[in-house]
Amino acid sequence: MAIRPILHYPDKRLRTPGEPVTDFGPELQELVEDMAETMYAAPGVGLAAPQIGVSKRIFIIDVATDDEEPSDLRVFINPEILEKRGECLFDEGCLSFPGAREEIERAEWVRVKAKDVDGSEFELEADGLLAIAIQHENDHLDGKLMIDRLGVLRRRLLHRAMSKRQPAA
Ligand code: NI
Repeated sequence: MAIRPILHYPDKRLRTPGEPVTDFGPELQELVEDMAETMYAAPGVGLAAPQIGVSKRIFIIDVATDDEEPSDLRVFINPEILEKRGECLFDEGCLSFPGAREEIERAEWVRVKAKDVDGSEFELEADGLLAIAIQHENDHLDGKLMIDRLGVLRRRLLHRAMSKRQPAA
């Protein structure tokens, strides 16, 4: 297992849409383990493969509130949001936008279908933080970022703030 470097906005690789996963072998297992280690080390509640420069349709989420014991790891491979209901506003963060928090509108409930790391399909209904995280991470798989969901002014301010800290990356 290894911690992978997380790409920061405005890195162009974050804009590359993920390809569907077709091979559910040991390499996938290893990639998902690296993603989990990277997410917990950050720490964050979600991480999508494009954020570590891997253009595949994979994201992981752990919204367990107890920081001491991360224990609710969920893996979504080739996910598809089948249904959305309601609206909510939430202050979102993203490991690719270090330090930023932005209020973003999302559906408050989603039904999603995905594959597990062993290739078995599952369906899940989610609300609360899990529903928000699913929508946020799923955007990453299409090369879409939280900045795209902001109004013009906030988008410009966030772009400027992130571009300023670029030399560190
Ligand atoms: Ni993100």
